[in-house]
Amino acid sequence: MTVKIGLLGLGTVGTGVYKLITSRGGHIKESTGVYPEIKKILVKNLNKPRKVKVEGLLTQNAEEILKDKEIKIVIEAIGGIYPAYEYVKEALLSGKHVITANKELIAQYGEELNEIAEKNRVFLKCEASVGGAIPILHQIDRLKITDEIDFVGGIVNGTTNYILTKMTTEGRSYEEALKEAQQLGYAEANPDYDVKGFDALYKLVILMREVFNINVPINSIPRKGIDEITTQDLNYSNKWGYKIKLFAWGKKVKDGIFAGVEPVLVEENNILSRVNDVNNAIILRGDSFGEYVFVGKGAGELPTGDAVVADLIDILLNYDIKDNLRINLLPIRQGSFTDTFY
Ligand code: NAP
Ligand code: HSE
Repeated sequence: MTVKIGLLGLGTVGTGVYKLITSRGGHIKESTGVYPEIKKILVKNLNKPRKVKVEGLLTQNAEEILKDKEIKIVIEAIGGIYPAYEYVKEALLSGKHVITANKELIAQYGEELNEIAEKNRVFLKCEASVGGAIPILHQIDRLKITDEIDFVGGIVNGTTNYILTKMTTEGRSYEEALKEAQQLGYAEANPDYDVKGFDALYKLVILMREVFNINVPINSIPRKGIDEITTQDLNYSNKWGYKIKLFAWGKKVKDGIFAGVEPVLVEENNILSRVNDVNNAIILRGDSFGEYVFVGKGAGELPTGDAVVADLIDILLNYDIKDNLRINLLPIRQGSFTDTFY
């Protein structure tokens, strides 16, 4: 049994997803019973050189994916709000499951899109939108069953952590380090989103929605990026035994939630000071488990592709092969679903 997938975008994330699905398709079938096949890929520029062999798969026309009844799952890796919002909405409304890596979209429109997904009994999954390869949303889902989580926070932007690390340990200028992060595929299309703290803010909003079941308005959270941090700031902090890290945090208190995104001084003996390069670290505090720190690669082609494919596997695991390929009616995180594959 095969499921056809439409991929929107073949940049850093889309390429990672394509590589993993094509190279691990057999393994995915072994564990889920379903072989994932990418049927069409939406791109902006058909003539751009690609890192993967995609002859015959590329299109500039989104309708070739969104209106194709054979395509049951859409993976969105375009970025930004428009046209990603319209595409994701149309896919959900037409009964397709959607996986997205787009934190801006999910932070701003996640509530509305989740409702559409629930009404249409399809999945909307977004593990790759927070923490790169770290399966943090899956973990939160599990942990909040047994715990009251009152703190979520950490280093959630790979580009800024890469820049701060390279400026501190290898003497790079801010501009050189940012350029490297862009070349490595870590930065957003507009890197201001990284360095001014917007990307971390979007991720924080998603984390808080997941942890506290609350939609905190984006513009109610104070935000400060790393664009004003100088080499001198880093050198002085180092001399006094501190590292500078961009920290995003949300804390539940009796009457509400405090949250912020800001550069902070971290003592050298704190675990966060050893989270370097593109790595992210996400801290959770719960009343039973105590404290967890999840560390892993926060951006890049394969780490992010892996998080997208984890969501894909979750969806495929809900097939009921024995029962003539119907979908299982399992309790799931974002709505439930009954049919749509066959
Ligand atoms: P990217 O490298 O800039 O790739 C974007 C892709 O989307 C390109 O293939 C581009 O086509 C296509 N595209 C853009 N606008 C389009 C439009 N209007 N119509 C059709 N195709 C369009 O971006 P990325 O780094 O992969 O990021 C994609 C998403 O994943 C973003 O939401 C980002 O925040 C998120 N994300 C990224 C990372 C990471 O490590 N980079 C990690 C986690 C999440 P062309 O190739 O023809 O230009
Ligand atoms: N630009 C983002 C980052 C990509 O650097 O963390 C991963 O979400």
